[in-house]
Amino acid sequence: MNDLAGKHIVLGLTGGIACYKSAELCRALIKAGATVQVVMTEAAGQFITPVTMQALSQRPVYGSQWDVRADNNMLHINLSREADACLIAPASADFMAKLAQGRADDLLSLLCLARPRQTVPLLIAPAMNREMWSHPATQRNVAQLCADGATVLGVGQGDQACGETGDGRMLEPQELLDDLVAFFQAKPMLGQQVLVTAGPTYEAIDPVRGITNLSSGKMGFAIARAAREAGADVTLVAGPVSLATPRGVRRVDVLSARDMQAAVAQHVGAATVFIACAAVADWRPAVAADQKIKKDGSGLVPELGFVENPDILAAVAQSARAQCRALYCVGFAAESQDLLANAQAKRARKGVPLLVGNIGPATFGQDDNALLLVDEARAQELPRNSKLVLARQLIANIASRIRAGGRNDAG
Ligand code: CTP
Repeated sequence: MNDLAGKHIVLGLTGGIACYKSAELCRALIKAGATVQVVMTEAAGQFITPVTMQALSQRPVYGSQWDVRADNNMLHINLSREADACLIAPASADFMAKLAQGRADDLLSLLCLARPRQTVPLLIAPAMNREMWSHPATQRNVAQLCADGATVLGVGQGDQACGETGDGRMLEPQELLDDLVAFFQAKPMLGQQVLVTAGPTYEAIDPVRGITNLSSGKMGFAIARAAREAGADVTLVAGPVSLATPRGVRRVDVLSARDMQAAVAQHVGAATVFIACAAVADWRPAVAADQKIKKDGSGLVPELGFVENPDILAAVAQSARAQCRALYCVGFAAESQDLLANAQAKRARKGVPLLVGNIGPATFGQDDNALLLVDEARAQELPRNSKLVLARQLIANIASRIRAGGRNDAG
């Protein structure tokens, strides 16, 4: 995906073993459509060569403010004026101390100080030993950098190159890419608490078998990611899927419809928006056997009786209405035919202001989809696109409905 198309990023490397990850980060940024200008401190050059970074970024790498390749001798101005953001990855404890003090005795710190702060944001990916990270001096510098307007992206946790284990690892290249992409997204959902359900549910027949459906969870996960990128605090209640949790999203894993209902009940009190994207099983076996059901050799098949599962969305919408709560509820409809008519009927039946229709068999498991947004007055199509692009469009649409004072009933 070209999430960074048109963006020019100054990627600053300072001294740390995590420089090896910056090579991959550089590739990832370029793959996402950015152009990347690498600037390295002298210490970074002890860990990775400019030749590697030059080959990956397809641009000359700069390290010294005295570099004669700049014909005006103003590298710190030239490089910072053309950037859309400066990302320092890895940022060493020493370099952060330098930035916090406003020192500028090498090209990278000089261009960070000289950059136009209003238009060229500074993002910092710290990387250091856990003792260095937790040291009050480093934490003081982090606080100062944040107060000065920088975005400190946080650190990972785990094994460190020094053999110790703890906080201070640089985030992985994919995590840094996701954070940078999110940074550039508009924030119309700031202050909103969004609760999303995603994926299928699994209804047990016995301890080793059950019934489920073909939902992959990709649409719901994309919605959770898009809501987070848009500034919301997001909780994702996920049925059994093997997808990575979007950055910054709180995830609750569940199995059955009743587990999902319990998890939703636990989190919906704090929510201002509820997006029910899960493909909840409509029925479950009336009795789940305690032990595996065995063939008895008679050729007879077990008789499975079914009972209906609770309708999570309808119940949440109904209870919010009864309590006059400002909870904006959005439903999904996975249909196989007559999308508009089915979606309109479902919207009214569920008692929600907005219902998003899609054709289930055409989208389950795929990376793209097409959506039909149905409200009381009209239907609007979001044409086929990747699920993440559609999720961002849907979140922007929901945000504008909320801004316009959207009612939380079916109308
Ligand atoms: N939904 C829910 N709880 C259920 C069933 C559905 O919360 N037990 C939610 C889904 O998350 C979705 C919407 O209701 O937002 C519609 O789901 P869908 O399965 O398409 O509709 P059903 O109500 O099950 O209707 P039908 O199967 O008859 O089409």
